[in-house]
Amino acid sequence: MTVTMHGSPAIGDFDGIDLDMLIRQGFRPVPVSAVRMLTSDVLGIDLHSTEAVAGCTPGSHLEVAVPLPDGPAIRHYSLLAGTAETLRVAVLREHRGRGGSAWLHENLASCTSLLVRGPRDTFGYDGNGPAYFVAGGIGITPLTAMIAAAAAAGRDWHLLYVGRRQESMAFADALVEEYGPERVTIHITEAVGRPDVVSSVEEWASVREEPTTVYTCGPVPLMRTLETGLDEHPSVSVISEDFVDADELPTPARSARPLGGAAPASALGSASGEPKAVGTDEEFVVELGDGSEVDVPADCTIIEALSKAGVRTLSSCKKGTCGTCETVILDGRADHRDSVLSAEEHAAQKTMMICVSRACGKRIALDL
Ligand code: FES
Repeated sequence: MTVTMHGSPAIGDFDGIDLDMLIRQGFRPVPVSAVRMLTSDVLGIDLHSTEAVAGCTPGSHLEVAVPLPDGPAIRHYSLLAGTAETLRVAVLREHRGRGGSAWLHENLASCTSLLVRGPRDTFGYDGNGPAYFVAGGIGITPLTAMIAAAAAAGRDWHLLYVGRRQESMAFADALVEEYGPERVTIHITEAVGRPDVVSSVEEWASVREEPTTVYTCGPVPLMRTLETGLDEHPSVSVISEDFVDADELPTPARSARPLGGAAPASALGSASGEPKAVGTDEEFVVELGDGSEVDVPADCTIIEALSKAGVRTLSSCKKGTCGTCETVILDGRADHRDSVLSAEEHAAQKTMMICVSRACGKRIALDL
């Protein structure tokens, strides 16, 4: 059932200072055009935005600002295959989460708009060669757009969609109906146990002449099984997107092993790719846009130091994996420790993730 929304906008729930900060950081109100329950725990939301739809790529996600009691929380939701003017997301209610998904489930009926930023694509769908998609639960969301792109391009592809129960798998019936059982395998663990995902990929890839790319999103154990099990495979590469925290849907922690290449550098490695020895960080000074300064001690992140100084910032994962805290560098160089920006973006020194990255040297000026 589709319900058109009327009522007060969600942005009215943010206080003025938070709202100013969110707008300054690139968030904007986008009208909610429809909501519907896709399963008992999954809420489908349509946002009307012609402008943002134009920037969508398969696997991209939106950042959504949620007004929780202790301040704005930023949550990441992958974009489903949508229409020409609609951004479509699906929100799983996390019963043991930190409140973001629960707020959306309980309050969206009174919202006419949401504050969003993006879309942003950190998954890395490339569109070349055979593709094997492996989704676990709500991890199906970014893959639906990739599958639509693969099907439209006539790409050779298959989907293995794993879930506990059929009724909790929001898109199972629609995907089978649209693409057929020869393209889509639904695996219900409650009925038949866990799948051997590595063997499934190997079997499928073994009859392809070109190398296969596996795109996977879902629970971490599922993705790690694929990454480790296929690590030495000569003609299969794996690209994954993590569910980092219980309350955030796919946070874009991209992990990729190119064919014949090395594993990606750790999110906690330094800009040079070498891990930083524990206890060797040094203090430095952050200069803000208004000329004021904040000391960052050796045992403190930039975000922590700013917070102690009363400077508001946005963050979500605080692990350098989601991109929410990305901040423009006005002067100086960053010691990058995130896994969001590419090696080229690290080298360009235009922005940094202030939840994990530090300054090279004694001072850095940031657009805060
Ligand atoms: S808060 Fe997620 S990258 Fe900094």
